[in-house]
Amino acid sequence: MRVVFNKKIALLIFIFCLQTSFFNAQDNIPKIQFPQGEITSVVLEAKIDSIINVLTLEEKVAMTHAQSKFSTKGVERLGIPEVWMSDGPHGVREEISWDAWENAGWTNDAITAFPALTCLAATFNPELSGEYGFNLGEEARYREKDVLLGPGVNIYRTPFNGRNFEYLGEDPFLASTMVVPYIKGVQKNGIAACVKHFALNNQEHLRDKINVEVSDRALYEIYLPAFKAAVQEGKVWALMGAYNKFRGQYTTHNKILNKILKTDWGYDGVVISDWSSVHSTKEAALYGVDMEMGTGTDGLGTTTNNHYQHYYLANPFLKALKKGELSEDLVNDKVRRILRLIYRTSLNPNRALGKMNNKEHHKVARKIATEGIVLLKNEDNFFPIKDKKGLTIAVIGENATRNMTQGGGSSQLKPLFEVSPLEGLRARYKNAKIIHTMGFESGASVYDEVVPASLNQDSLYVKAIEVAKKADIVLFVGGLNKSHHQDSEGDDREVFALPFGQEKLINGIQEVNKNLGFLLLTGNAVEMNWLPKTKGVIQTWYLGSMAGHAIADIVSGDVNPSGKLPFSFPKKLEDNAAHSFGKLSYPGIDENQYYKEDILVGYRWFDTRKIEPQFAFGYGLSYSSFKISDVKINQKKYSENDKIKVTFNVSNTGNREGAEVVQVYVGKYKSKVKRALKELKGFTKVNLEKGLQKTASVTLNVSDLAYYNTEISSWSLEKGTYYIYVGNASNNITKKIKFSIL
Ligand code: GLC
Repeated sequence: MRVVFNKKIALLIFIFCLQTSFFNAQDNIPKIQFPQGEITSVVLEAKIDSIINVLTLEEKVAMTHAQSKFSTKGVERLGIPEVWMSDGPHGVREEISWDAWENAGWTNDAITAFPALTCLAATFNPELSGEYGFNLGEEARYREKDVLLGPGVNIYRTPFNGRNFEYLGEDPFLASTMVVPYIKGVQKNGIAACVKHFALNNQEHLRDKINVEVSDRALYEIYLPAFKAAVQEGKVWALMGAYNKFRGQYTTHNKILNKILKTDWGYDGVVISDWSSVHSTKEAALYGVDMEMGTGTDGLGTTTNNHYQHYYLANPFLKALKKGELSEDLVNDKVRRILRLIYRTSLNPNRALGKMNNKEHHKVARKIATEGIVLLKNEDNFFPIKDKKGLTIAVIGENATRNMTQGGGSSQLKPLFEVSPLEGLRARYKNAKIIHTMGFESGASVYDEVVPASLNQDSLYVKAIEVAKKADIVLFVGGLNKSHHQDSEGDDREVFALPFGQEKLINGIQEVNKNLGFLLLTGNAVEMNWLPKTKGVIQTWYLGSMAGHAIADIVSGDVNPSGKLPFSFPKKLEDNAAHSFGKLSYPGIDENQYYKEDILVGYRWFDTRKIEPQFAFGYGLSYSSFKISDVKINQKKYSENDKIKVTFNVSNTGNREGAEVVQVYVGKYKSKVKRALKELKGFTKVNLEKGLQKTASVTLNVSDLAYYNTEISSWSLEKGTYYIYVGNASNNITKKIKFSIL
């Protein structure tokens, strides 16, 4: 039974208590009236001090751990509200039971499912990311949550990671640029975003045990930047630790939380554990976690009968504090951060009431989806497909109808509706005839329980070939899905190729119909030996409620695709960096793992080792064509505090409007340390009507070209020769310009 707090009454009681307690407790301090509008930090900290002074030790400890699956205690006598959290990064999860992972069976918690964050990253549109966060935050506010457990920013290191679909790709600059507006958008609603999972949670296999070893260079240059941007630019109010270990210590209570996060970066928010990622009272007390969630404690198993008093930060913590084994300063700092969170959220008198499932949200979800879809191949202008009488389009493949918002783990959603690719195509094509057959069936599986397919695969295959014969065009809708060992939390993929016999089916279809296009629903790269059999391929991600409409927008040409890949597609798995150094590199040996590719993740690896990817980071086609010209930089020689202004012309040389993403990479020539050939340091998306051109620019800070110098444990800017690389994909550079840093 949920203790339902009327937050307004609580707020009034709290203000009253606060003013009385504050004044009683500290009569010598001038009387502070409760300010309207933004609570200044001086006032806020003073208030928090006054509250901490009147809280009992029991009340303080109670605030630092769960009281239910997704909430922590408040202090009823002072009117301090509980803290309510909910997943996830793409939409507000259905209500979960108080004590168990089952859903609570509510009938008013169906929401808008936004596209997965990999699709958002593929838009290369930071403004859109701000809209994403704001609209999602409105739904979290409406569902009366205080913390939204997202976004996830773990870097895409291996195509096997089950949760890559939840994250922002392989490049730290892209992830950093896209995560900041999302956080600001969410928090405009008085809802805390919770950037996760800090840190080095780059696979699901053995995620709660694996000990990650990685160099400081790779840590600071690849795996931490998006978290740093979330904290220092996004001003994120919450952050979640991770399950894995780093250098032998669990990351949920780890030295790097106190040192890097809270000291070096000045993070003033709360650190929330992942669910059941706390393993020790002393470690949790000392090493940075502020709210313990999801611990399975009875018999140290993880069952639904969690006895909250046995949590590591519950009775054991209280006991250690009372015995003086742990300083009360430790619990005071945790409570200070929690109170700051409460003031920023539920006690923020200015926050709006939120909205849910409204037209604006559906419109934004569709816009993000269409802008994130990536056109990978388009031979003979296979796409777009015009809607005309007499045309028969066969839509074949389980992913044309399969629910893709359920499953996948904690980011799963219960949307008010989910338009499937088939429904979207049927709604858009009024003249052409659309015929459909399943083609293949994947069976269902949740975590480690695999339910085999129920239909006869051979009969599905035969039927698919028959249907393909009758059509002028075949749209194969396949890829992965959200079940176990696919794009799902809890474990990783085990096969790089398309599963469920899709390759055989594609070959069979192509035998009888050459007009074959592929709509690829995945959150990860897959092997594409079948590519030559297709005329067109569209990477469609997991798009949420408006999936089918967005896919139809692109397939029909109503919207010109402008997405770019946020991670590389290797031709074969061994071409991927993490898979080039044996098992210790991935998936690890005996729960130990070493990121041997170091800083050379993704295109950094392909560039530096001169390996050609199937499709490169930053790649994406358009129904139009663009030309980048007159690339210039403002100087030839720079010093550390200068800015590099890169200007260029972009022309739309095609026959329809569209958008191009101009990317700016930088590389050091003959560096004295190991460095990637080039690294993304800026980008801009340019929208142009056909036949028009625009001058655009990207400005870089010279100081951002530094590398992390492990000899001095700080950043160093090398002097000497560098190159700027400007193009529309990491492997399609239009212009290279030399410059030097003095
Ligand atoms: C899960 C996930 C985390 C999620 C949490 C609550 O294990 O790792 O991302 O927010 O538990 O569901």
